[in-house]
Amino acid sequence: MDNRGSFGSRLGVVLASAGSAVGLGNIWRFPTEVGRNGGAAFILVYLLCVALLAMPVMVSEFVIGRASRANTVHSYRILAPGKPWVLTGFMGVLAGILILSFYSVVAGWTLNYTIESFGGQLIGAQDFGAHFADFSSSPIRPLLFVYAFLLLTHFVVSKGVRDGIERYSKLMMPLLFLILLLLVGLSLSMSGTSQGLTFLLRPDFSRITGSVVLSAMGQAFFSLSVGIGCLITYASYFGKETQLVPSAFHVCLIDTLVAVLSGFVIFPTVFSVPGMSPDAGPGLVFITLPNVFNAAFAHAPVLNYVFSALFYLLLLLAALTSSISMNEIATAFIHENYHVSRQWSTVIVTSIAVVLGTACSLSFGLWKDVTVFGMGFFDFFDYVTAKFMMPLGGLLITVFVGWYLDRRLALSQLTCGGNAWNRSARVLLFLIRWVAPVGVGMVFLNELLS
Ligand code: PHE
Repeated sequence: MDNRGSFGSRLGVVLASAGSAVGLGNIWRFPTEVGRNGGAAFILVYLLCVALLAMPVMVSEFVIGRASRANTVHSYRILAPGKPWVLTGFMGVLAGILILSFYSVVAGWTLNYTIESFGGQLIGAQDFGAHFADFSSSPIRPLLFVYAFLLLTHFVVSKGVRDGIERYSKLMMPLLFLILLLLVGLSLSMSGTSQGLTFLLRPDFSRITGSVVLSAMGQAFFSLSVGIGCLITYASYFGKETQLVPSAFHVCLIDTLVAVLSGFVIFPTVFSVPGMSPDAGPGLVFITLPNVFNAAFAHAPVLNYVFSALFYLLLLLAALTSSISMNEIATAFIHENYHVSRQWSTVIVTSIAVVLGTACSLSFGLWKDVTVFGMGFFDFFDYVTAKFMMPLGGLLITVFVGWYLDRRLALSQLTCGGNAWNRSARVLLFLIRWVAPVGVGMVFLNELLS
């Protein structure tokens, strides 16, 4: 367990964790959910879920990871020897691999769209619905992109914590911000700006229902990568001096900013084209957007080219900084628990993801009739992880830190061994003990019973 990797700087800590958080969840899933659930009202509930439920889980994961300095399974063995808490760690490893498998399917589509947009193939009016359906349901093509994406992920993770994860996050995250800001600027100069902004900023409270709250919480957990020990693993690479509460706050802030800014890119553009609707669902990014880019820039193909190429590149970078964190959960576990080299551990994880990712990808084509509990592989993996494992994991993690772990240990982690009366640490501990478990528990029960 000696010679473990570690992040080299404070910036590295925040950018790597934010890299895990910022992903397809922000740029693809968030606008989809906002569009489906009525805009501003959903965003409001989402913000509450981030602050009151997901952030406490994030801080709890940071506490567990930094206190144990071990992978997510071993961390429970160290902090709760001989107790069944270790099962929470195993669930996280499994969830990480399952998420990586279906995530890489959407990331594979993104890779394909990035290449097509750079090749100019998305320019010119065409039936993008058919284009997307043809591609995603064809037997071989999407698989090649899934594998290519998993190999990219493999490459970064196998380089290790500092030379792989930290280095590439530091490179990709600033690039991602730059592209995002450029796109926001372009999008706010379009004709649908005011309609788009109204949709994003003026809440219609009548839209808030039980299922909207559920979706908002699921989205907050997914977007912040919490509940499966991903951030336990990352926090085990934090230094002694890393301030956990401010770091978590910064990661949540960056993640939320990217999600909201993605909304600012997508909705003004969507409203700029008559006949396009914001509630197109998962196809929003792969069908509606290329249509929108073409219609909006009908007389300026260069802008169309720039806008779409930058957009898909942005999505790809975001997906990659997240997928490496999913892979890392299991890689760290295998490497440390079975004394397999880091390289080989990564090979094992990538190989499992290749097999499961194949099943998820084929569930849009050849295997669309193969179902598990009435769902195709892709939907099943998505459902089991986002709706079941993440909330359950989040609940267990907050109960572990809030109620099981020695209070002094938790406080000394929260305050970096400093003043235990530190106000933000106290507030966080209250959220961890009461608000998050009760809130998550209620939403979770509701989910199970409905
Ligand atoms: N947070 C990532 C996103 O928004 C997804 C993710 C989930 C990453 C779980 C790691 C662990 O895309």
